[in-house]
Amino acid sequence: MSYQVILPAAGQGKRMGAGKNKLLLELDGIPLLIHTLKVFEKDPDCEKIILAINPQDEIEFKGLIEQFGLKKIDDLVPGGKERQQSIHNALKTVEKGEMILVHDAARPFIQTDAISRLTEKAGQTGAAILAVPVKDTIKKAENGEVTETVDRSSLWAVQTPQAFRISILQRAYELAEEDDFLGTDDASLVERLPHPVSVLEGDYDNIKLTTPEDLFFAEAILKKREAAK
Ligand code: CTP
Ligand code: MG
Repeated sequence: MSYQVILPAAGQGKRMGAGKNKLLLELDGIPLLIHTLKVFEKDPDCEKIILAINPQDEIEFKGLIEQFGLKKIDDLVPGGKERQQSIHNALKTVEKGEMILVHDAARPFIQTDAISRLTEKAGQTGAAILAVPVKDTIKKAENGEVTETVDRSSLWAVQTPQAFRISILQRAYELAEEDDFLGTDDASLVERLPHPVSVLEGDYDNIKLTTPEDLFFAEAILKKREAAK
């Protein structure tokens, strides 16, 4: 199913501690941002990419987009203070269409088959997300003492992309703004409409590069994929 995608890329990468936007760090000689953009550039179902950026990265990002010959980036939208604001700014530029995806620019390992499973599902239900079963035992604690061991069987670690019928996501963002609600993902805004959100099992490889050790995991995933070719 065809779709447009919003890629929030306007963060500062503070936890990565690289002294610049982590999306400019190179993996296999290519900036992280480009790895992610290429997935959507190559996916025939992707009609358009809307990139939310920090104005201080504009010159560098534009240079890379040109250098790697990327053609689907229609809009460079200024990001906001929080990820949610960056996405809202991008969403306001969407005029028409059926399906919108939101995908963290910092998740370069997303694959086209997962995207098409996701958009297929969201086409049916209006909202769908990718997630993986939680592997660790999760406990709640207060003041250094366990208060509860949570039943893991219904817990999912949520990823992006998240896919929505455009009108649903627009309504969800408007409501969140009215209520001053700040969520940690896009689906949480849709949940409070309320509108049901379908969960599809994704891939543990679809990591978000957040802290320096994630760069080692990323190298390993790249090597594994290279070997499988
Ligand atoms: N993002 C954004 N606008 C913000 C904050 C984040 O567009 N105000 C983007 C990031 O660029 C990233 C994605 O949202 O692609 C996920 O955010 P995160 O992994 O937290 O990245 P950063 O915010 O850059 O990192 P940190 O929180 O460590 O500073
Ligand atoms: Mg952040």
